[in-house]
Amino acid sequence: MKIGIIGTGNVGATLARKLAACGHQVKIANSRGPQSIQHLASEIGAKAVTKEEVVSDVDVVIISIPFANYPDLKQTLSKAPEKTVVIDTSNYYPARDGAIKEVDDGKPESVWVSEQIGRPVIKAWNAALAATLADKGGPAESSTRIALPVAGGNIYAERIAQDLVEDTGFIALAAGTLEDSWRQQPGTPAYCTELTLPKLRLALLLADKARAPQNRDALIAKFMASDSQLTHEQIVALNRAMTA
Ligand SMILES: NC(=O)c1ccc[n+]([C@@H]2O[C@H](COP(=O)([O-])OP(=O)(O)OC[C@H]3O[C@@H](n4cnc5c(N)ncnc54)[C@H](OP(=O)(O)O)[C@@H]3O)[C@@H](O)[C@H]2O)c1
Repeated sequence: MKIGIIGTGNVGATLARKLAACGHQVKIANSRGPQSIQHLASEIGAKAVTKEEVVSDVDVVIISIPFANYPDLKQTLSKAPEKTVVIDTSNYYPARDGAIKEVDDGKPESVWVSEQIGRPVIKAWNAALAATLADKGGPAESSTRIALPVAGGNIYAERIAQDLVEDTGFIALAAGTLEDSWRQQPGTPAYCTELTLPKLRLALLLADKARAPQNRDALIAKFMASDSQLTHEQIVALNRAMTA
């Protein structure tokens, strides 16, 4: 497929690398311009382009930028044909992103994103740490392959997103509409807990909408209070324990 990725940080660069390695034609863009990501693009077999070019002549656009910056992309996305599938990887952390009242009042993050950019979106890859995305993908036949939720509601767009999630080494689990996608947001049992398929199904069912933001903020406080840098395994264990 032809894929444009906006955001080349921890998540965007990892997805670009993996999807290019699968044979997809990948273009990447960031806020600073193509020259700043030329080296990355050459290394992973992608093309560094402007934001305008990244949405042109692609089947899919993946957006992986800080949550509060999504409104910046409305103009850019307005240039993408209607049939282009848009996938959102974002998560909202008020302490980092600034408070956004509608989301604090319960609007699912990706519904807010969709409204800001003026496009339907599919929420995918958000519920995995960047290090999980980079290092924990596994072969399709593995019985311990990690599963990730994919929410959106449009069957065509969701199918494409699911296939791409599988290409990056994870089982894609259809997780309902965008309105349901709070079940895979920070502070839920499905979020960054590295679960196999049956456990992810259960985790999505057990999600508690009122508790999730409290868990999210309590987890951040715990990470910040730690004397030493937590290992990846410690972070996943803490996510599991505090959202159980
Ligand atoms: N890190 C994780 O473990 C993780 C896991 C799952 C989901 N997420 C979510 O995925 C998103 C990206 O996270 P990240 O950790 O990859 O972020 P990051 O490392 O900070 O990278 C952000 C990227 O977005 C680009 N960017 C920022 N504003 C932009 C704009 N207005 N237009 C175009 N590009 C823009 C930046 O480009 P410049 O450098 O040129 O400014 C940079 O390439 C966030 O919403 C995050 O919550 C993160």
